[in-house]
Amino acid sequence: MWRCPLGLLLLLLLAGELALGARRGRGRRELAPALHLRGIRDAGGRYCQEQDLCCRGRADECALPYLGVTCYCDLFCNRTVSDCCPDFWDFCLGVPPPFPPVQGCVHRGRVYPVLGTYWDNCNRCTCQEKGQWECDQEPCLVDQDMINAINQGNYGWRAGNHSAFWGMTLDEGIRYRLGTIRPSSSVTSMNEIHTVLGPGEVLPTAFEASEKWPNLIHEPLDQGNCAGSWAFSTAAVASDRVSIHSLGHMTPVLSPQNLLSCDTHNQQGCRGGHLDGAWWFLRRRGVVSDHCYPFSGRERDEAGPAPRCMMHSRAMGRGKRQATAHCPNSRVHTNDIYQVTPAYRLGSSEKEIMKELMENGPVQALMEVHEDFFLYQGGVYSHTPVSHGRPERYRRHGTHSVKITGWGEETLPDGRTLKYWTNSAMRKDTWPMTTPELLSPQLFS
Ligand SMILES: *[C@@H]1O[C@H](CO)[C@@H](O)[C@H](O)[C@H]1NC(C)=O
Ligand SMILES: *[C@@H]1O[C@H](CO)[C@@H](O)[C@H](O)[C@H]1NC(C)=O
Repeated sequence: MWRCPLGLLLLLLLAGELALGARRGRGRRELAPALHLRGIRDAGGRYCQEQDLCCRGRADECALPYLGVTCYCDLFCNRTVSDCCPDFWDFCLGVPPPFPPVQGCVHRGRVYPVLGTYWDNCNRCTCQEKGQWECDQEPCLVDQDMINAINQGNYGWRAGNHSAFWGMTLDEGIRYRLGTIRPSSSVTSMNEIHTVLGPGEVLPTAFEASEKWPNLIHEPLDQGNCAGSWAFSTAAVASDRVSIHSLGHMTPVLSPQNLLSCDTHNQQGCRGGHLDGAWWFLRRRGVVSDHCYPFSGRERDEAGPAPRCMMHSRAMGRGKRQATAHCPNSRVHTNDIYQVTPAYRLGSSEKEIMKELMENGPVQALMEVHEDFFLYQGGVYSHTPVSHGRPERYRRHGTHSVKITGWGEETLPDGRTLKYWTNSAMRKDTWPMTTPELLSPQLFS
């Protein structure tokens, strides 16, 4: 009697069976269950076709793995007991298969097995038992019909597919990609600061802050799926202005996360917030750099508590403040607190906004964002009427805030001049917009 470990014995047995199978070859095939009598499970699968395989007579090597067993693309498979691959009949013989054509859904040239679930952009689709393809009917953020309509309509800007937006619903875009609460009337009626243009003073037709202040204008940060534009745009404008006003002695990228997590009075972090509250916080509490307190993204559990504030400041006299904690990013040791002077509101005079921008740096603007804005890829954006004929749920809007860094103008084919604002530090092509889109720009000095 001999003994060996169980594992080893199993291995030996398996090897033996494999060897047996190889030797007997055809015998195994003859014993194999008929595929289409047992039920073809992948009715629309392309097997012979994918390998470009069709063999005359009997050819046992003319075989392919089929859901854990083997199917064949040779003429011999077409006998009483069939083990043909599902597409053998139509691909190799050019005739309809002999099994009932019910086990799948045909959708855009592909066949999907019954009861499978698939994503079609932002919608979940299921292949129902009787072969109906059923999808949710949510409007998607990236909408090919809208892209085509905008590009064919000559609206002065190009639409396209932003991969970051693919798979999101329009509702999610409005809920997670914007995030500024419309200001109350007490803010919109705040005193306007008027800049006086000298007599005969002429403003340039184009201006870009990054050209006047090289290295002091910061690239926009990506807010991801955090509806916190209130914090991002405020921190962005403040970063540039701190850099400009300190003549480049300080060039911090101020931390939006510091605002999102710590400016919680009447604010909702990644669910939206007020600009006046953000400016109040920057002035009275101050924030650290983005390096020290980096952006952590939207909390996964939306209903759960917002992330804890990791940075507080205390007064150290003369209106200055200092941090009371180390940087949340443990590799950074500089936790200086940056504060700004009070924010003020600009009037809606185009020239005064321009002069302010040219003299003191980027300004913050509120804008109402519509469904087509998410498709913007270049040109001068204006809201298009392409969704007007569609149901209400395709026509959505929300309030957003952005940093304006310059302006320019272009001549339209009909000879008119189109003036626009720009809002990117480096790429003039990114997110420009026309004046009518702006609602009362606000800023601080
Ligand atoms: C293959 O099988 C089908 C259905 O049984 C039959 O109609 C057809 O004639 C067969 N074709 C060949 C080439 O044997
Ligand atoms: C849009 O972009 C995504 C991600 O890059 C891609 O998977 C998708 O097929 C694109 N959609 C269209 C309609 O081009």
